[in-house]
Amino acid sequence: MAESDKVFAGSIPKLYDTLMVPLIFEAYATELAELVASSSPGSVLETAAGSGVVTRLLAPKLRSDTRYVVTDLNQPMLDYAATRQGPDSRIEWQRADALDLPFEDASFDIVCCQFGAMFFPSRVAGYAEARRVLRPGGRFVFSVWDRIEENAFADDVTNAVATVFPQDPPRFLARTPHGYHDISLIREELNSAGFADINIATREKVSRAASARAAATAYCEGTPLRNEIEARDARLLQAATDRAAVAIASRHGEGPVAGKIQAHVVVAAG
Ligand SMILES: C[S@@+](CC[C@H](N)C(=O)[O-])C[C@H]1O[C@@H](n2cnc3c(N)ncnc32)[C@H](O)[C@@H]1O
Repeated sequence: MAESDKVFAGSIPKLYDTLMVPLIFEAYATELAELVASSSPGSVLETAAGSGVVTRLLAPKLRSDTRYVVTDLNQPMLDYAATRQGPDSRIEWQRADALDLPFEDASFDIVCCQFGAMFFPSRVAGYAEARRVLRPGGRFVFSVWDRIEENAFADDVTNAVATVFPQDPPRFLARTPHGYHDISLIREELNSAGFADINIATREKVSRAASARAAATAYCEGTPLRNEIEARDARLLQAATDRAAVAIASRHGEGPVAGKIQAHVVVAAG
């Protein structure tokens, strides 16, 4: 993973939350929130919470006495998430690396993490850390994207932006968000971290945007793909977004667009 892949800062938090979240994250967050809330946990730790889409959907479903600790590596994402959340005395916001959690052993009933594990430099270390802070009988609930070919707009954008930088194509989307989709590897790494009871469900959904340009702008400007494009030539950010918009429109039409998205939802215990 490139260093810039994990940098969600500058203009990214707001664009991520306003463009990317409704496009691909919200539908999975609804499902993850239901999964977490279904066991009425007394304590929940969320890692890699980003701009807080899961937090916003999960908090109303939790008990009035549940402790809910919401963390992310990037303080700007957490700051943005906090501004979107109404006052809630159950929530504690704290910057934390999922690989080095500042919490006691066995302190949470559930650890949840939506689309964050792909960013962990060592998945086994991140999983072991989640397991360390779980109480006996606790569950680690998380999701990762499936391969990029199963995620239409991400694939279109990656191929289109590559034509702007043919010598050195930006591969952020393929390398990181869509770079960790092998179910047998996920199982193996969870086992290595000590989890024995693992359930993985592959979930297909539809991603919708008002236009091809809105989808292209979300990926090119509201994710660390932006960092990669700007590192090559900041003046070409607009050209790259334009190229991606044309590619999406050519495959999905002018006007509102819809494309397949697919992810793995994992529940690990034991
Ligand atoms: C694709 S976003 C997902 C955010 C949110 N869970 C969502 O569903 O919208 C990935 C998040 O992982 C965070 N992240 C990256 N590396 C991390 C780490 N080592 N520990 C905790 N968070 C990390 C980033 O700051 C970013 O907010």
